[in-house]
Amino acid sequence: MGFLSQVEIGLGTWAWGDRTVWGFHKGYGPKDLQESFWAAYNAGIRLIDTAEVYGDGRSEAFLGEFLKGQPPEKIFMATKFAPLPWRIRTSSLLKALGASLKRLGLPSVDLYQMHWPSPPRSIRAWMEPLAQAVKEGLAKEVGVSNFSRGPMLRAQEALAAHGVPLSSNQMQYSLVRRKNEFNGLLAECAKSGIRFIAYSPLGMGMLSGKYSPQNPPSGPRSLFYFGQLNRIQALVARLREIGQAHGGKTVNQVALNWILCKGGLPIPGAKTAAQAVENAGALGWRLDPAEVAELDEASRDFKG
Ligand SMILES: NC(=O)c1ccc[n+]([C@@H]2O[C@H](COP(=O)([O-])OP(=O)(O)OC[C@H]3O[C@@H](n4cnc5c(N)ncnc54)[C@H](OP(=O)(O)O)[C@@H]3O)[C@@H](O)[C@H]2O)c1
Repeated sequence: MGFLSQVEIGLGTWAWGDRTVWGFHKGYGPKDLQESFWAAYNAGIRLIDTAEVYGDGRSEAFLGEFLKGQPPEKIFMATKFAPLPWRIRTSSLLKALGASLKRLGLPSVDLYQMHWPSPPRSIRAWMEPLAQAVKEGLAKEVGVSNFSRGPMLRAQEALAAHGVPLSSNQMQYSLVRRKNEFNGLLAECAKSGIRFIAYSPLGMGMLSGKYSPQNPPSGPRSLFYFGQLNRIQALVARLREIGQAHGGKTVNQVALNWILCKGGLPIPGAKTAAQAVENAGALGWRLDPAEVAELDEASRDFKG
């Protein structure tokens, strides 16, 4: 684990160009994304997470465009390989990485992640080209995503055989999705020196407090959290009180801070500069251990 041990929070870019889930061009567009990028950078965010499949490559292409602005300080770029069903040959990984680098306009990425496991080919087979990406200087570090404990440890072992460490595992984790804590994965990552990157750390926006059963989000998001919006409101009310006790921190900032306290690296998505700046405000302070314990208790039923 190199740069990831120094990074506390990142910026997620799934919504950048994605129409199906996030409704790109409905309420936000390219200008908002450019402003979000620079607002996050100016607020001290140095890790950006994208993937070749986000917006069918549009997320990476936007980032490539914005990076031409040459930020004075280093930005760590993380992207992902999608083992799509028709990608039977493991050589497709290095080909896909080449296409990602082209869209990003970069000679290498800081972190290349396998987006999800692909059982038809063994983990060992996929880890070979992933390690090769490091050896060829196309990726500084490598990680996995959506790998449960056993497959994650097998990936770590397979990479180690090539002399390459497994830097990270990117998993869903938030106050309303605690499965990867309850099943021991978060603790296993800490034990095995693998950085636990928490995706959808705001419950895809459900923890912001702006959605309710009367005002659900548009698109498939409401299906993902169907029947849970009522319970989430009670949690949001407590997050709001805790935030006030910390000098006016927002609900989102408290929700992200809880992940920091648990040892995760949250990568909240942002569609606007205001969201990016607010989320960066999760840094520079910490919840008290008693507040963390209280939030643990208040969210213990969110086992999924
Ligand atoms: N590896 C994987 O399989 C995987 C899967 C999912 C995500 N990810 C990564 O993780 C990142 C984050 O996850 P996510 O985007 O799914 O969900 P998230 O970070 O939990 O939520 C992001 C959404 O919440 C709303 N939001 C964010 N900040 C806000 C604020 N300060 N105030 C009010 N609303 C706010 C925005 O949507 P609205 O304004 O529309 O509500 C935003 O798009 C992704 O962008 C992606 O990089 C990875």
